[in-house]
Amino acid sequence: MTSSRGGRPQRIGITGLGMAVPSKVLTNADLEKMVETTDEWIRTRTGIRERRVAEPGTTTSDLALKAAREALEQARLDPKKLELLIVATTTPDMLFPSTSCLVQQRLGASSAVCFDLSAACSGSVFAIITAQQYLLSGRYRNALVVGAEVLSSFIDWTDRSTCVLFGDGAGAAVLEPVKRGGILATDMGADGSAAELLYMPGGGSKYPPSHQSVDQRLHFLRMNGTEIFKLAVRRMADSAKRVMKDAKLKAEDVECFIPHQANTRIIEAVAKRADLPLEKVYMNLQRYGNTSAASNLIALYEAVRDGVIKRDDHVVMVAFGAGLTWGSVLLQW
Ligand code: UT7
Repeated sequence: MTSSRGGRPQRIGITGLGMAVPSKVLTNADLEKMVETTDEWIRTRTGIRERRVAEPGTTTSDLALKAAREALEQARLDPKKLELLIVATTTPDMLFPSTSCLVQQRLGASSAVCFDLSAACSGSVFAIITAQQYLLSGRYRNALVVGAEVLSSFIDWTDRSTCVLFGDGAGAAVLEPVKRGGILATDMGADGSAAELLYMPGGGSKYPPSHQSVDQRLHFLRMNGTEIFKLAVRRMADSAKRVMKDAKLKAEDVECFIPHQANTRIIEAVAKRADLPLEKVYMNLQRYGNTSAASNLIALYEAVRDGVIKRDDHVVMVAFGAGLTWGSVLLQW
């Protein structure tokens, strides 16, 4: 679908949500058997108790497809009528074609324009904002955004400083014009000067796959956790404050904050810096760890499913990830 349709909607909202996680649970006790770590260290330093890990052979598009189907069903949108499909992922099935094209084919969404979006853990927030802009312009009438990761394929399972942090999963949202509520304010930012604080060096044009790249463990995620921690706190707090200011709302007007689910201590520090009451901050990272691009959407899904977010509530989603990238979406449910 490439033609412009004219007629610009005023407001874009989320009309359906979906999620999918692998059934296999990897607990902190399991990790104690794999690396020099303890359940106590992981719980107190990160808040994580367990995470989901895909079975070998399960791909990012497998999880994305499941979440996508549920979101489309919730929105009562026939896949054939879908016009835009964005998959945010750091762990695509392959370098190309895009994972979104693989999902499109399996969904039967033959009219949808598809592309992947690379913004690491900010992926779902960036994808929501990107879709919103296309819909506001009148170019497309509906969009499906999916944040999906099989990070376990790119984790160095001998590196205790990273392997305890991440998990696999997918979240999906359908966006359409709405008459009530919807997205009220957005914010996005990036800083490539800190790119090497969190990255996976191998597999691209810089270090193409070779025996040497494998021997040097270049195909695994690398992170300077302490620096990322500090920047995550500052960027997420400032971004959340910016969207509230833009929407002329105060923290007390917002019923639920959905931060990127990386570490309880990061989230608590963001809440403190942005004056957000902790009881309004939703967390499910204890069960899933950091699922990167899927994180905000999985958290939003569960918060809505469990009645934490109700009709008309104001919700702030805020994310931060490799790039560096960060962003927020303030919406009325
Ligand atoms: O979404 C963006 C992606 N990533 C993140 O958001 C993660 C951001 N960073 C973090 O969450 C935290 O920095 C960590 C949880 C990774 C680490 O917490 P920290 O308070 O920054 O601890 P640290 O890096 O200062 O490490 C403290 C100690 C070190 O030992 P020494 O050097 O003090 O002897 C580490 O070697 O903890 C050690 N350590 C561990 N010990 C037991 C690191 N990982 C582990 C582990 N088990 N799994």
